[in-house]
This record gives sequence, structure tokens and C-alpha cells, in this order.
Amino acid sequence: MKASILSIALVGVTGIAAISVSYAGPPAPKAAGIESKGYTWNAQQGEKIEALKLKGDKNNGEEAYEVCGACHLPSGAGRPDGTFPQLAGQHTTVLIKQMADTRAGLRDNPTMYPFAVTLTDPQELADVSAYIESLCIPTNHGKYEGADAEQQIAKGRDLYEKQCLECHGKNGEGDKAKFYPVIAGQHYNYLLRQMTEIREGKRRNANPDMVKAIKPYTDDMLVAISAYQASLTMPGAMCAEKASKK
Ligand code: HEC
Ligand code: HEC
Repeated sequence: MKASILSIALVGVTGIAAISVSYAGPPAPKAAGIESKGYTWNAQQGEKIEALKLKGDKNNGEEAYEVCGACHLPSGAGRPDGTFPQLAGQHTTVLIKQMADTRAGLRDNPTMYPFAVTLTDPQELADVSAYIESLCIPTNHGKYEGADAEQQIAKGRDLYEKQCLECHGKNGEGDKAKFYPVIAGQHYNYLLRQMTEIREGKRRNANPDMVKAIKPYTDDMLVAISAYQASLTMPGAMCAEKASKK
């Protein structure tokens, strides 16, 4: 069934990937998000609560992840240009919420939607999330490359510590129980794009408290915070350390 509705071609040309996706199924639904009155962030309903209750099976998850690796790479590392986020080591709660939101049309992601719906049921959501969470976080992700990196990171650190650390943690570790994402190891370009979209109300499943915090930030401030976040490492979760522990 998967093969009949989906075809994906991934052509690597000296590090640049041209990706074409064809899909014959129905378009994503549109659920009422942050733009609508009465929006409750992370409402506990639908397949999400089912998936959160289940114990994920990493082996099944590895199989289900195969289709995901075309964009997010088999390692989960995504792409430094920020087109596809780094996923490895992300909390299962965050993964389940983001996927359920995408499937429900609460987070718009037309590129991934046809693949997100190949996961058959809450058990498969739990399985693929358990597998992804178990992967170590690669350290060769996209960072801020400007000549003023040191200053940007220092400026970003001040900003981050004032308003972001309380939710995303000192090392960018997020909070599994509260659905706050891991930020450590994420690509600079992806961070910048997400924060811009969250500030502008375009990531419709966003947390309203975070939207409030980030609303007054200028583009320059977001550049600095992204530079800082991309420099964070999470003790015990990064690839080199995990490998040497074994
Ligand atoms: C055709 C490419 C593609 C495929 C295949 C794909 N994704 Fe994605 N995925 C994306 C894109 C693009 C984004 C970021 C969307 C955005 O910028 O908001 C994303 C975002 C995500 C996110 C949210 C990450 C975050 O930091 O919030 C999760 C979780 C995710 N994908 C999981 C999966 C899983 C699991 C699969 C396999 C079932 C999968 N993806 C398959 C393209 C893809
Ligand atoms: C009240 C807690 C809270 C605060 C404060 C907060 N965030 Fe968030 N942040 C979240 C949650 C929750 C999400 C995921 C939203 C969702 O889709 O449900 C998120 C998402 C993000 C993302 C996207 C991550 C991804 O994987 O896609 C980035 C980047 C981010 N936050 C950075 C920041 C920065 C920088 C600040 C400070 C200005 C901040 N956040 C303040 C809770 C918070």
C-alpha cells in the first residue's frame, strides 16, 4: 500500500539533495490552531493520548522509520540547511505530539504529511518515537557560520537564559513530561525558521506562552538565540559520548 501511493526520489548532488515527492492521496486536513479563539495548547485528545499510553517497540519502530530516513536520514540527523530537522534523541512525547498534530492538520507540513499518514495506528506512533528517541544526537549539525559567531553566541546566551531556559533547559534538553522539545544538536537554519514561524503565528500548534515570550524579538535577536542554541550540547545524549560509553 505504501509503495502504491508514495514515491520518493532522493538525489544527492555534492551535498545538495533534490527531493521530489509524488502523492496521490487526499490533502492534509486543517484543524483550528493558535489563530482561533478557544485554542487549547496540547489538548489531550485523539490518537496522541492513546500513543502516549503505549510502550513503544524500538524494533518495530526501526522498520516504520525507514520511510522517514529519506528526508531525516537514517541517523535522524536531518540536514544542516534546515530543510529537514534533526530528530535523533528527541523526547517521545514531543515526537508523538508533533506527528499527531501534523496528521490532524494542526501543524502544517505538506512535505511530510503523506509520509506521516503511513504510520498505521497509535502503536506505530509509539514505536517509531521510541526508536528515534533511542538514537544518539549527531554533533556535525548546522551551526552559525558567521565571522562574528563568538559575539552572536554570547548575545544569544543572555537572551536564552532570560526567557527560554526555564522551558528548554540549560543544555537545551527540554522537558519530556511537559512536551518541551530538545533543542541541543538542532540545525541553526531550522531553529531560526521555526522561531520565526512561531513568532508570526504560522506554527499553529505552538505553545502560547512561548509565542508571548518570542513576540517582541527582532530578527537579529532570533539569529543570536539560534546561534547559541545550535552551540548547545546535552551531556550523555550526543553521539561521541554515547559511543565511548559502550
Ligand atoms: C518528504 C520528507 C519527509 C519525510 C519522508 C518525513 N518527514 Fe518529518 N519533517 C519533514 C519536514 C520538512 C519537517 C519540518 C517541517 C517544518 O519546517 O515545520 C519535518 C518535521 C518532523 C518532525 C517535527 C520535528 C520538530 O523538531 O518539531 C517530526 C517529529 C518528524 N518530522 C518525524 C517524521 C517521521 C517519524 C517520519 C516518518 C514516518 C517523517 N518525519 C518523514 C519532512 C519529512
Ligand atoms: C512555556 C515554555 C516555553 C518557553 C518559555 C519557550 N518555549 Fe520554545 N517551545 C516550547 C514548546 C512546548 C515547543 C513545542 C511547541 C509545540 O509545537 O507544541 C517549543 C518549540 C520551540 C522551538 C522549535 C523546536 C523544534 O524542535 O521544532 C524552538 C527553536 C524554541 N521553542 C525556542 C525557544 C526560545 C528561543 C525561547 C525563548 C525566547 C522559547 N523557546 C521559550 C515551550 C517553550
